[in-house]
Amino acid sequence: MGKATQDLRKEHEAILHVLKILDQMFTSTLDATKKLQYYSEVVNFFRIFADKCHHGKEEVYLFEELIKKGFHKESGPVGVMLHEHKLGREYISMMNKSLEAKDLAGFDTAAAKYSALLRQHINKENNVLFIMADEVLDETKQDELFREFEQHEENVIGHGVHEKLHAMIHAWAAEFNVS
Ligand SMILES: [Fe+2]
Ligand SMILES: [Fe+2]
Repeated sequence: MGKATQDLRKEHEAILHVLKILDQMFTSTLDATKKLQYYSEVVNFFRIFADKCHHGKEEVYLFEELIKKGFHKESGPVGVMLHEHKLGREYISMMNKSLEAKDLAGFDTAAAKYSALLRQHINKENNVLFIMADEVLDETKQDELFREFEQHEENVIGHGVHEKLHAMIHAWAAEFNVS
């Protein structure tokens, strides 16, 4: 497994962990105000970490490299992944609108769609696309991509925010008993 795809797999673990926490938030008996507060923190995590940072690494660097190797941008595995990232952004915007309107039912509907989309998306990347990527990208290219990922991460979230997001995940996991 290459260094770049390994980094993305690690981030998938973090995203899946937060989706598990979100499942617990759905069924918790917290009052509406508290729930809205947690939901807005979680949506912020999806927007910054899952979309800007993680999907950014995939779209700007990894997928571009795969396209150079002959993958199509509009169809096939890369085309499908790009389409799903776009759909994910639409669900994030639906979740944000529901939060602004304090509409918990609307939020739950959009969040359930987002969660189902991301789970199957990650599954396809881990088990199909990244395996193909490991076959076509040599170690030097993977190392180069990994360095670009680190720079991207620094540019879009920065060290301070990264630490803050991790601290938030720990706090949610403790509050909602998710290991
Ligand atoms: Fe992706
Ligand atoms: Fe991914």
